Amino acid sequence: MLNFSKCHSILITGASRGLGLEMVRQLLSTPERPKKNHRNRCRGTELQALAKSHPEVHVVTLDVTSDVSVNDAVQEVKSIVGADGLNCLINNAAINIHCDLDTVTRDVMMKTYEINTVAPLFVTKAFLPLLREAAGQGSGMGIHRSAVINVSSILGSVQLNWGEMGAPKLYAYRPSKSALNMITRSLAVDLEAEGILCVALHPGWVRTDLGGADADMSVEESISSVLPVICGLTEKDHGGFVSYNGETLPW
Ligand SMILES: NC(=O)c1ccc[n+]([C@@H]2O[C@H](COP(=O)([O-])OP(=O)(O)OC[C@H]3O[C@@H](n4cnc5c(N)ncnc54)[C@H](OP(=O)(O)O)[C@@H]3O)[C@@H](O)[C@H]2O)c1
Repeated sequence: MLNFSKCHSILITGASRGLGLEMVRQLLSTPERPKKNHRNRCRGTELQALAKSHPEVHVVTLDVTSDVSVNDAVQEVKSIVGADGLNCLINNAAINIHCDLDTVTRDVMMKTYEINTVAPLFVTKAFLPLLREAAGQGSGMGIHRSAVINVSSILGSVQLNWGEMGAPKLYAYRPSKSALNMITRSLAVDLEAEGILCVALHPGWVRTDLGGADADMSVEESISSVLPVICGLTEKDHGGFVSYNGETLPW
């Protein structure tokens, strides 16, 4: 059972497909779902269809790498959430361009960092006024008040990149997520006093365009574990790196 009482709004980036889309789907099937809901960049027809049949879903066009697009999205979301502010921002959008030591290029490194690392920081900065608005109206820490969830990856763990776990040669993706983890921790330091929870979250290895067909889990399995974890986040998780099963991961 998911407890969404008091969480009125969730913004998920990259919800046109994969894990972001499944989050929207499963959030809609919970009885206590947020009243004003998920907003995302999208040309995704499935998301558009969900929005048509569920008025609480708002689809917002958003390219996370464009300041103009991000600022337009902030205005649009502001007009939807009003004085309540935004309770939960999930920075989910990302890319994974496979490259090993032989094939990695400067362009691939920069493009990956732009979307996976720099964008979540600047999207968060842009939405801070709305997150602060919500934070000012609650107490404690969690998505009932104000939270930034950065969807990271276990592949961003420096400590675990060894032996079997070192097998996936992803020279751009892995460090983009390690750096996202550091950004999450820095945000946690800066936003703690304002009561805004910041967490890095690993959703598991999942069969999506990004995760590939050989992955362990379906999107349904991943998100049915991820959502209760997100709902249960409290001050004890602030600044941490959590897995889809609730375990804490090493940096
Ligand atoms: N799948 C896994 O095994 C796995 C494991 C660990 C972590 N993760 C993380 O989980 C998150 C979701 O991954 P996924 O597997 O669902 O990936 P996915 O199926 O490839 O979906 C990626 C999403 O990101 C969006 N996106 C990409 N560039 C964007 C941009 N510039 N602006 C806005 N949106 C953009 C895509 O939108 P378009 O459709 O418009 O391109 C799409 O909606 C990512 O952060 C990923 O790193 C996934």
